[in-house]
Amino acid sequence: MRIGTPLSPSATRVMLLGSGELGKEVIIALQRFGVEVIAVDRYANAPGHHVANRSHVINMADPAALRALVEAEQPHFIVPEIEAIATDELAAIEADGLATVIPTARATQLTMNREGIRRLAAEELGVPTSRYHFASSLAEMQAAADDVGYPCFVKPVMSSSGKGQSMLNSADEVAAAWEYALSAGRVNHGRVIVEQCIHFDYEITLLTVRANGANGEVETHFCTPIGHRQVKGDYVESWQAQPMTDTALAKAQDIAAKVTGNLGGRGLFGVELFVKDDDVWFSEVSPRPHDTGMVTMATQFQNEFELHARAILGLPVNTALHSTGASAVIYGGMEAEGIAFEGVEHALQVPESDVRLFGKPVAFERRRMGVALARGKDTDEARARAVEAASRVKLVLG
Ligand SMILES: Nc1ncnc2c1ncn2[C@@H]1O[C@H](COP(=O)(O)OP(=O)(O)OP(=O)(O)O)[C@@H](O)[C@H]1O
Ligand SMILES: [Mg+2]
Repeated sequence: MRIGTPLSPSATRVMLLGSGELGKEVIIALQRFGVEVIAVDRYANAPGHHVANRSHVINMADPAALRALVEAEQPHFIVPEIEAIATDELAAIEADGLATVIPTARATQLTMNREGIRRLAAEELGVPTSRYHFASSLAEMQAAADDVGYPCFVKPVMSSSGKGQSMLNSADEVAAAWEYALSAGRVNHGRVIVEQCIHFDYEITLLTVRANGANGEVETHFCTPIGHRQVKGDYVESWQAQPMTDTALAKAQDIAAKVTGNLGGRGLFGVELFVKDDDVWFSEVSPRPHDTGMVTMATQFQNEFELHARAILGLPVNTALHSTGASAVIYGGMEAEGIAFEGVEHALQVPESDVRLFGKPVAFERRRMGVALARGKDTDEARARAVEAASRVKLVLG
């Protein structure tokens, strides 16, 4: 393993595809090792653009634009931070030996489409999931929903952050859900997954790291489970540690090891799981840091971004927890450009709290603009502190 001098011919170059708040923290972690970082996003002044050596604005779903930028910048590693990328072109870039895609180009291909990762997990790896069908028309969706039963979830196969997703309570709601899925899917493929509703006790993100061990072989490491609360498919609060029975934890780790082992490569993954008593269901996986994992900035010796950076560079990792903590999202609450934050000084009066402001150029009502973090003697205290700190940050017109 060798790391060069940034901005010199020996530089170790990493290109982030997607430079939001999660990418920004990965970039900061890479910068600490003297890595030269190129941040790419679809809009100017994205959070990661502020902390990278160079930044670019391109349509990452455009294969020609992606290839041209990779050829110009010649990164050693390409680190996707979002799903909406020309992943077939990433596979060609990897196959041509231009760069190493983290964790692998195949992982980005499989996880950008719910059908790829679901069929792999359930049908090839035999991991427990909710019952499901895929549907490409209203009639197929009706039949699928009737078969899995109500309530059930409908999600466009290409979407994230809850976009186009509905929970259906009865057959009357199928037509509206189909229209909504069509309107909000990332690419208008007109294909959805219909999933049985799992009546879980709690859901977790199991951050799983594939990193080089002492002998250079990839080893799998697990972080302490993160619990979270979702509203409309978007996380609003997360905490660590989420208590689990030994049996459930062992099953969760087994599922995470199987899925990430198949996806391969090196890097950190966010494995989303539903838990009820000792039963665990796989939901989905991000082959990259996870939004709910922002809590690790308050709780771990190496947060999820540092773990990802180390795994990418072939360095050893330590997933140990040092404190109990929580995170709470700070939303835009308005639509405006160049907003300002007030009350950060009051937020930081909350004991053991911290705040991250992402520096996004435009706010929307439900856009994540920052996050509050806090530690506590238990997750109840940490959650109350994080929520209180978040509520004290006010967005105002700039
Ligand atoms: N089959 C299910 N049973 C019960 N709850 C579900 C099911 N599917 C989704 N949910 C709930 O909806 C949330 C979002 O679902 P999912 O993770 O599939 O959406 P997403 O659009 O990929 O979201 P994100 O990109 O934020 O992870 C889950 O975290 C869970 O709370
Ligand atoms: Mg999810």
